[in-house]
Amino acid sequence: MGEDFLKLAKDRYSVRKFEQRAVEPEILEKIIKAGMFAPTACNKQPQRILVIDSSDGLQKLKLCTKCHFDAPAAMLVCYDKNECWVRKYDGKTSGEIDASIVATHMILEAASIGIGTTWVMHFKPQEIREQFQLPEDYEPVALLVMGYPASDAEPYAQHSEFKSERELVFHNRFKKTYNVQAYDDTWKNDYENEIDTLIKKSSLSELAFEHIGSTAIPGVKAKPIIDIIVGVKVFPPSAEVIHDIEECGYIYLREASVPDRLYFVKRAEKNFNVNVILYQGSVWEQDIAFRDYLISHPDYAQEYSKIKDRLVKSDEVLEYSKLKTDFILKVYDKINSGEA
Ligand SMILES: Cc1cc2nc3c(=O)[nH]c(=O)nc-3n(C[C@H](O)[C@H](O)[C@H](O)COP(=O)(O)O)c2cc1C
Repeated sequence: MGEDFLKLAKDRYSVRKFEQRAVEPEILEKIIKAGMFAPTACNKQPQRILVIDSSDGLQKLKLCTKCHFDAPAAMLVCYDKNECWVRKYDGKTSGEIDASIVATHMILEAASIGIGTTWVMHFKPQEIREQFQLPEDYEPVALLVMGYPASDAEPYAQHSEFKSERELVFHNRFKKTYNVQAYDDTWKNDYENEIDTLIKKSSLSELAFEHIGSTAIPGVKAKPIIDIIVGVKVFPPSAEVIHDIEECGYIYLREASVPDRLYFVKRAEKNFNVNVILYQGSVWEQDIAFRDYLISHPDYAQEYSKIKDRLVKSDEVLEYSKLKTDFILKVYDKINSGEA
């Protein structure tokens, strides 16, 4: 039974071309039964199934959707809003879920007896309501168009495009994934536009700004977050500096466990991290020297970029951190030894 079901689930595809012969009532009945046997929350059975198989009904259906595929029959799976189970903690209702399980049972039963279906969501709900006189409290969820598949019916290409198990399935906990992207030269503009915004604030207008981190090094893959250092003559800076950065949409995270730095993040359409540090202090000088070394040594930039590939594979994050630390130390050794 297990193997048979997996085979059915894998082989079934959305049929969008049908033979122009009616589906026998006893076959339709089996599909309906599968919908009636489906589990529903608290067994409240809020599903309401409208069978559309008359020529008049099928004509009306064409006014409601372009995805009718000239099918000789259809079933509209709705739920009655008054009969759903409601989760008391957040008021979430089971209707859409119940109706979806019902519809899933139906399309799989149909496939098992040789009837092709397509689950259609692309319909005009108001038109469906009017054409088929839906009671006000019925919500239409799934339109299942169905019939015998035409001899030349074929699945669309996306039928066999399955995401990998690594992307979809997790064991015991979800792993963090990182959005590492190829170098994008618009990051430089994003940095400049952001500085234009920051320097409009009076307490920031005279400060020094630098674009640092991976997004500042051409050719290096990076998380699309622009790192900015803001140099202040006196650390910690005035309350006004902090206030003005917050005013530009940043969240103030204080030192965030790094001493002698104040850390701000902005997560909006574009992402920025602002680090306020002592101008021309050791952290300031190191950040700039690291960036400039990689810009002037593309082979090192490439090595750094390759290390970022580890971040994409979430189970290699520890490995990534170690490689990154070793790499940074190696670059600082080069810088400190004065090697060009
Ligand atoms: C909730 C839902 C809504 C869908 N709506 C439509 C639709 O409006 N029109 C359509 O042609 N196919 C629709 N489909 C079918 C999907 O496009 C199809 O299942 C998917 O591309 C996978 O292909 P397969 O069914 O051949 O495996 C829908 C499927 C689901 C589950």
